[in-house]
Amino acid sequence: MKSLVFLSVILTAILYGNSEHLIVGNVADRVVLANHTKVEYNAFPFMKRVKQYFYSGPKVIQGIQALDLQHSKSSVNITAGGVGSTFVNLRFKSERGGGLDYDVGIYVKPDFL
Ligand SMILES: *[C@@H]1O[C@H](CO)[C@@H](O)[C@H](O)[C@H]1NC(C)=O
Ligand SMILES: *[C@@H]1O[C@H](CO)[C@@H](O)[C@H](O)[C@H]1NC(C)=O
Repeated sequence: MKSLVFLSVILTAILYGNSEHLIVGNVADRVVLANHTKVEYNAFPFMKRVKQYFYSGPKVIQGIQALDLQHSKSSVNITAGGVGSTFVNLRFKSERGGGLDYDVGIYVKPDFL
């Protein structure tokens, strides 16, 4: 139980080459997906594309994962809520002239725990 609490407060930001994935909290151990969404935005010449994602659920969020599927120089930040809240707002920003293609997962505790 202690390790579960510990896991859920670990903050990890993983950098794979140029692409930036956001992984915070517990996305693996005794949690289930509450929302799984693709965040996409078409590229536009010379522009940085910005998009927001908002999730709000009845349960406290245990983990958040946003994977950059195109391994670009885009970035993603949590701008409100997050692990420990029932909601989260993510802000995505593409590189100049690039698009967005993220795979987003929000993890909560399953009903049977
Ligand atoms: C997940 O979130 C997206 C974007 O907010 C929403 O369109 C979709 O209906 C949600 N899916 C579920 C299963 O809650
Ligand atoms: C996220 O925050 C970093 C550091 O403040 C900033 O450089 C980056 O542009 C931000 N990205 C988004 C999508 O807001």
